[in-house]
This record gives sequence, structure tokens and C-alpha cells, in this order.
Amino acid sequence: MTAAVIDGKALAQQVRSEVKERAAGLARAGITPGLATVLVGEDPASTIYVSSKQKACAEVGIKVWDYPLPASTPEDELLALIADLNANDGVHGILVQLPLPEHIDEQKVLVAVDPLKDADGFHPMNLGRLLAGDPVVAPATPAGIQEMLIRSGVEISGAEVVVVGRSNIVGKPIAAMLMQKAPGANATVTICHTRTRDIAEHTVRADILIAAIGRAHAITAPMIKKGAVVIDVGMNRTEDGLKGDVDFEAAKEICSQITPVPGGVGPMTIAMLLSNTVKLAGG
Ligand code: GUN
Repeated sequence: MTAAVIDGKALAQQVRSEVKERAAGLARAGITPGLATVLVGEDPASTIYVSSKQKACAEVGIKVWDYPLPASTPEDELLALIADLNANDGVHGILVQLPLPEHIDEQKVLVAVDPLKDADGFHPMNLGRLLAGDPVVAPATPAGIQEMLIRSGVEISGAEVVVVGRSNIVGKPIAAMLMQKAPGANATVTICHTRTRDIAEHTVRADILIAAIGRAHAITAPMIKKGAVVIDVGMNRTEDGLKGDVDFEAAKEICSQITPVPGGVGPMTIAMLLSNTVKLAGG
């Protein structure tokens, strides 16, 4: 049997309509939610991501404060901008697009953002609160994955979840979220990474397999358990176009549900960023 394809665009649209209503509620109370986007340099993928986020903000009633900066921006100038945004009452969320140029210390920048304006949930205090089960906001991609699983009717409680990839943006936070004693969680979570001895030995046990590796088609059919739910976080630009981390065509003959690339996790990431911003504005 062929797997059901999880429609990330449709689910993201549901979330976006809900966010739009929450933003309208804030507007009635005289609050316009504001998101500042900071993009240093002109990396083509980052430029596309930031403009998609800005367009999505406008559609739900979030005001965008746009800060495109040259790649040569000194670190202290970036930190000074963040300090200004922290002090600006019209800005409820701040997003610094990653990766940053080599000469800028990413951790220093993430710590400079006011944790209560941290739309991405990347501040170490927020990552700590996430781990402790008391999040302010969760990072958008993991939040989008969890929301997708819930809205697709996937049983998470008690499930064997295998995450392949240990980034601070996806692998570590999704593992922390799905292991919590909380609704939409309570999973048994394994994280695999570059030093895992035999990744397939773990993935074949997964009821829910989350691929956040960054290598096109790294997950092949024999690595997937029959009937598993497969979430593909990969966004790999290849000569043949945008590819996920999963060999989709082969995988969909084995699993029960699978997310496509594009049209899977990507749209949910944007929807959850909007949700985070409205939440930080009080909605
Ligand atoms: N780079 C890749 N993903 C993300 C994200 O979710 N937020 C930011 N700020 N940068 C990213």
C-alpha cells in the first residue's frame, strides 16, 4: 500500500488562519504584533526564507520590521541593532536568520536577543526552558513537526521516535519536545548522528522517523519500518532541484504517512514562527 502524503501546505494554512484570528484579537486591543527580521548578507536560500516569512507575516496581520544588512556588518553593529530592537515596544519578536557570516559569533548574537522576544526560541534560556518542559516558545521547525504529527492523527505517546541529526535548530529540540511528559509527546526518543555506529539499526525500529540530516536521500527504503510515519526536514539543493533527506518515491511504498519536500515541514515552520510571534505579543 502506498503511504498517505501529509499535506504540509494545507496544515500550515489551518495554523495560519488560527494565528490570523489571534492577531485580530490583539488588534482589537490596540496591539499590532511586530516581527523584526535580521538578515546578514545575501545567501540565496536565506534570502528566500526571509522573504517567505515576511510575506506570511503580512498575510496574518503581523507588522514586519525589515533589517537587511551587508555581509560585512561588524559583530558589534549587529549586537547594537539587537539592543535597539529589544528596547523597541513595537517589536514583539526578533528573528536573526542563520547561518551568520564567519566573522560573527552566532552564540553571542542568540544570547543578545531578549528571551521574551525570541521568535525562533534559539536563546539558551528558552532552549533550557524547553528541556525543562516550561517553554516560552519552541523553535519553529520542531514545533511545526509536532503540530503536523498531532494534526495528522499520529499516536505519539509511547511511540519509538528516531531522530537522525543533532542540530540545535531541529534534532536536539524535537527530541526534547517529544520526550516530555505532556500531550502530543511521551515518546521514547533516540537521536542518531554522524558518529552513530549503525544508523539503520536504529531507524528500522522507528514508529516515527524524523530525518534532519542535510544530505539528499540519506534515508533509503531498507532503513524504514513498514507502516512508520516519516518526517523529512531536508532542504537539499541539488542539480535535480530541491530534495529531501528521504528517498521519497521508495519510502512511500513502505511507510504509512510521509511528508513531501517541498510542501511538508517547510510551510509548517513558517506557520509556527507566526504563531510564536503572536504569542510573544500576548495573543
Ligand atoms: N536557518 C535555518 N532555519 C532557520 C530558522 O528556523 N530560523 C532562523 N532564524 N534561521 C534559520
